[in-house]
Amino acid sequence: MRYHVKKIAIITGASSGLGREFVKLMKDRNEIEEIWAIARHQDKLDKLRKQMGTKVKPISMDLSNRTRIEQFGMMLSEQQLEIRYLINNAGYAKFCSYSDLNVEDSLNMIDLNIGGVVAMGLVCIPYMPRGSHLINIASQAAFQPLPYQNLYSSTKAFVRNYTRALNVELKDRGIIATAVCPGWIKTHLYDRADIGAAKATRRFCSMTTPDKVAKKALADADRGKDISIYSFYVNFCHIGAKLLPQQLMMRFWLRQQRINPYSQTDQ
Ligand SMILES: NC(=O)c1ccc[n+]([C@@H]2O[C@H](COP(=O)([O-])OP(=O)(O)OC[C@H]3O[C@@H](n4cnc5c(N)ncnc54)[C@H](OP(=O)(O)O)[C@@H]3O)[C@@H](O)[C@H]2O)c1
Repeated sequence: MRYHVKKIAIITGASSGLGREFVKLMKDRNEIEEIWAIARHQDKLDKLRKQMGTKVKPISMDLSNRTRIEQFGMMLSEQQLEIRYLINNAGYAKFCSYSDLNVEDSLNMIDLNIGGVVAMGLVCIPYMPRGSHLINIASQAAFQPLPYQNLYSSTKAFVRNYTRALNVELKDRGIIATAVCPGWIKTHLYDRADIGAAKATRRFCSMTTPDKVAKKALADADRGKDISIYSFYVNFCHIGAKLLPQQLMMRFWLRQQRINPYSQTDQ
């Protein structure tokens, strides 16, 4: 007896911002039969399904929890499916100094922004056929060290480098990995990022909307690119970070944010 092999897309952080836009785009792809939408809050996922339709399968889980990801891997092994797209989008930032976060909060960001991305890739890749896509959301923050957003930008630098090298390692399986590096996007990220720190990111240059970033990311992934950058401004910063010394790039950043590292407060 032959079983039907379901073709699915998995999107993490699907209930809000950029992830929600990826759900919208996947919904219109006929080859995708189910969209597994992952986030922590069930109520927001239920709302998403109501708005986007029954293709959406809500899965409530905390991706900073390793055991939960292992259980997700077990669930995959019990089904007949192919993962055509894995979009590792869930992540968060804190705009502050290293000293504003305790050990628990610092490591939780690493657990989600890095651990969640790596672990989801490892449990999903065995179910990804040739021609499938692994899309990891990094950030413009990955291009250079960013004081007072140090931990976040460092997690995103990891995601960018890891994804591009993974793309090479996945050549033999015919899977394409793409690191998406957006600049500032109008989403709920800022609700969690702004903790009222004395020295923090408060100037958001050239902000865009999540629909544009998601559309460009999928187009770049489908073209087989290992990195996706939306907007002239972010491209300019990307090139600048390649050409100029990092000390100078950090100085530009501090000046743009009007932060004086030698003073006790923001300027
Ligand atoms: N907004 C920007 O300016 C910007 C710029 C560059 C890159 N990015 C990146 O884009 C990605 C999406 O962020 P966004 O701007 O769309 O933020 P957002 O609107 O805050 O959305 C974050 C999503 O992730 C989910 N999430 C948060 N913590 C989670 C956890 N522990 N486990 C599972 N799901 C979790 C949230 O749902 P629950 O709260 O229900 O879990 C939500 O669905 C992030 O990786 C972010 O770093 C954002």
